Amino acid sequence: MAQKTLLTLYVSELKDLYSAEQQLVKALPKLVKSAETDELSEAFANHLEETKNHVTRLEEVFESLGENPKGKKCVGMEGIVKEGAETIDELEGKVLDAGLIAAAQKVEHYEIAAYGSVCAYAKLLDRSDDLNLLKETLEEEKRADEKLTELSENVNQEAAELQEENAPAAKTANREHLRARKTKSAA
Ligand SMILES: [Fe+2]
Repeated sequence: MAQKTLLTLYVSELKDLYSAEQQLVKALPKLVKSAETDELSEAFANHLEETKNHVTRLEEVFESLGENPKGKKCVGMEGIVKEGAETIDELEGKVLDAGLIAAAQKVEHYEIAAYGSVCAYAKLLDRSDDLNLLKETLEEEKRADEKLTELSENVNQEAAELQEENAPAAKTANREHLRARKTKSAA
């Protein structure tokens, strides 16, 4: 088996992130267009600009490593983006917005995990310039995630209100289900 070092793993994870970020640069404009809530659409547009910067930062890291950023496809991000595309096809209105937030938060959490790892490796490998660049991106991913959580409060609430207007049957069914459970546990 070929000898693998932490540096090999570091470069491999960075390539994965480079592919992930590039996939996002392509996918985010669809989210900007699909979101009904203006603030959500703006948040996606803002993160699209940040994401372009994330690509540039990774290119800087690769340049200082003397490595090529290309050559790996991030299959994890490909799957998350595909699921997001399904959400866009299947939902509409505020429920779509709620779905878009869920999809985007999956993206952010994936990236937060991945940047967390490469930051730890950069620190161990004494690559302090890389670490500064990667940390900046990590902080932006965290802020994007927090912003989405903040926006989800109203959006999810609005989606829930729509549920009550359009499908009182679901609520009745739920009430009956709860009543049945209570009767069962009382017995
Ligand atoms: Fe990013």
